[in-house]
Amino acid sequence: MGAGAGHGKSILFGEHFVVYGMPALAAGIDAVTTAKVTQKEWPGWTLDDQRPEVAGYKTKKMDEQKTSINNVLKHLGVDVSKRGIHIELGGDLICASGFGASAASCVSLAHALNEEFNLGFDKAKINEAAYEGEKGYHGTPSGIDNTASTYGGLVWFVRDLDGGPPTFRPITLDNSVNFIIASTGITASTTEVVGDVRAKKEADPEWFNSISKEYETLVNEALSALRDNEVAKVGQLMNRNHELLQELTVSCKELDDLVSIARDNGAVGAKMTGTGRGGNMIAIASVEASRNKIAAALERGRAAFVIKTSFGV
Ligand code: MEV
Repeated sequence: MGAGAGHGKSILFGEHFVVYGMPALAAGIDAVTTAKVTQKEWPGWTLDDQRPEVAGYKTKKMDEQKTSINNVLKHLGVDVSKRGIHIELGGDLICASGFGASAASCVSLAHALNEEFNLGFDKAKINEAAYEGEKGYHGTPSGIDNTASTYGGLVWFVRDLDGGPPTFRPITLDNSVNFIIASTGITASTTEVVGDVRAKKEADPEWFNSISKEYETLVNEALSALRDNEVAKVGQLMNRNHELLQELTVSCKELDDLVSIARDNGAVGAKMTGTGRGGNMIAIASVEASRNKIAAALERGRAAFVIKTSFGV
């Protein structure tokens, strides 16, 4: 049996803008998806998907998941046409939009196949295979989700718009930053939302260029503020990033409500994260006591569930 794992993630800055070559910052989270692969005598692959989920997530993504598994197998050169495999997915990462659940499953599967078939691939190749898997979920992934899932930690990521490999580097901070992830419980279609943003960009390129420029300045300031441990400044920049995402029309009432609850209860900054129109909101807190208060308010409010975590060190 071969086994592997992939981290969940939260995008701190840059969802959607990253698709068009702007830099983004993402944090891997501790929760993981695990995969086990065993070889079978019969052809094809079978799947036992035991990952925890928000209601309906796995059914909604099932067709995309099939394409994704086939893409990973093809990229790694694993031929199941004569002797097949059985795949078991599990772990503590809840399948819900915004956590990079699709990327985490691709990464865990690539690791498990690597182990079972002694392929000898390194993390870079696992990341590439997971990227091909991500294409099953939406045609034009930037690659940030699979990269954060493969490497964990805090990652600065830039997509190569000419189809070359992305540029990314791990970022280590002197201090860890307290943050909260709250789920709306709504499953979004990344294909649809990314497609809508593309249509808006094509309809009004000047508008898109101008907010992209603002975003690019903002994410560079955010990286400096994180390095200087200026948490209040990071929070202000998150708030502005949320407004830019509202302009892209990828936020929604449920996300905006969670953002307001977090800010009203002491968050220094809050924004939607990931695809949007559902999925997750993230907020940062100056100290742990404040993080607990914000999380409790979100739990009393409309959040489907809340995770308290940290990134940076
Ligand atoms: C989804 O987690 C992030 C998006 O920017 C899409 C992508 O980067 O592929 C919306």
